Amino acid sequence: PLSLIIVGALAYLLGSIPFGVVITRLMGLGDLRQIGSGNIGATNVLRTGNKGAALATLLLDAAKGAIAVLIARATVGEDAAQLAALASFLGHLFPVWLGFRGGKGVATFLGTLIALAWPVGLAACATWLVAAVLFRISSLAALIAAALSSLWCFVFDQGTMLFLVVVLTALIYLRHWPNLERIKAGTEPKIGQKKA
Ligand code: G3P
Repeated sequence: PLSLIIVGALAYLLGSIPFGVVITRLMGLGDLRQIGSGNIGATNVLRTGNKGAALATLLLDAAKGAIAVLIARATVGEDAAQLAALASFLGHLFPVWLGFRGGKGVATFLGTLIALAWPVGLAACATWLVAAVLFRISSLAALIAAALSSLWCFVFDQGTMLFLVVVLTALIYLRHWPNLERIKAGTEPKIGQKKA
């Protein structure tokens, strides 16, 4: 129905705002595409050396996913909330403003999870943090957190969102293919390291 199309389009547009690119440009930190991995996410913003800019990117990229879900739930309902999660995530990965070449979706994924079912979202964030502290590699922490998010759906009795979480996790793995290659080769930089 029309309401789902409108909610989906709005969520896509929200998700497509590339906060990393906007913030680094506004703060005069250079062209994010020419820095580190060239990715538009918070991990790569941190490679500019500006922690505030990286934190702002992380929070805003997560918030856009959460807000998309909350708007959809408030206006249409729970099915629309899942659609909004998918649409905002796809907006981040394929933003029309950047010729559809967007990010890897980790922050937006976590934001949508928090809004869909906060225990699952918080468990996924905690998983990322623990893995990041253990390995000091952002992409590896993201891959571990994404893989375990399906488990948290079971633990917190959120089976209705399992299919969505599996789809988003698969997309995160596809987007991290170069990172996976670097992890295997032992060349993936640690968090905050300049080169990628
Ligand atoms: O969320 C993206 C992160 O997992 C990896 O970023 O810049 O190291 O490819 P990057």
